[in-house]
Amino acid sequence: MNRPTILFFDSGMGGLSVYSEVRALLPYCHYLYCFDNAFFPYSEKSEAMIIERTVKICQTINASYPIDLIVIACNTASTVVLPALRQTFNLPIVGTVPAIKPAAEISQTKRIGLLATKGTVKRQYIADLINNYAAHCQVEKLGSTVLVEQAEQKLNGFSLDLVTLANELDVWKNIADLDTVVLGCTHFPLIKQEIQQYLPQVKYFIDSGKAIATRVESLVKDKINHSVGENCVYYTKPLNDKLTLWHTLQQMGFTQLHHLSV
Ligand code: DGL
Repeated sequence: MNRPTILFFDSGMGGLSVYSEVRALLPYCHYLYCFDNAFFPYSEKSEAMIIERTVKICQTINASYPIDLIVIACNTASTVVLPALRQTFNLPIVGTVPAIKPAAEISQTKRIGLLATKGTVKRQYIADLINNYAAHCQVEKLGSTVLVEQAEQKLNGFSLDLVTLANELDVWKNIADLDTVVLGCTHFPLIKQEIQQYLPQVKYFIDSGKAIATRVESLVKDKINHSVGENCVYYTKPLNDKLTLWHTLQQMGFTQLHHLSV
């Protein structure tokens, strides 16, 4: 594989925050990005549906472009689909795990916040992560679909509704010793500056993008030949306004945009 094919998968634009970190380290891979906008947001969808769609979409893309590595660039999906994907595909599957461990290490007050989707915050996977790595911390959990939608708006060229954003974060406003927040949804690094504005007491906002990039690099770096080519984005439901999004995607290195029927 001269240009290893890496598929990024998310329900929407959030996975681009992970893709950007990986591409910054590995500019010469063949990148595919699929967002399942037909089923967006994943936040409150059933685990069974998320597993079914993710596996089916990855299989459909793999049938036209044999994939070398899959990055599930979505925390919500990663909390449930990784075992099923690893059973289906004989290739490396990299998930996105909320950065609870580094947050627990870096926090000085040992009071940390997990900002994620409603689905992610209630999963056993998260309870286990907290027990294993942050048992010595007080962990506040905030699940939000509104923030996911706001990030999506931003990437589609619309301005954010700052009142809605402030209201959503209001429950943490008065927690003075909350010094670290885990951005446990890949959409949130895209609106980090706006989130930061409403939580001025927080010193550290931590996401998993760089750690994933390092992991992907370790899996493919010996297989790369320095050549460039097409990079493709797939969506699962026709887009109302393609132009703004397409402009953003082109700036990120994508050269094709296709509808995927699943
Ligand atoms: N970007 C996804 C995540 O990291 C979730 C977005 C959604 O709810 O669809 O959890």
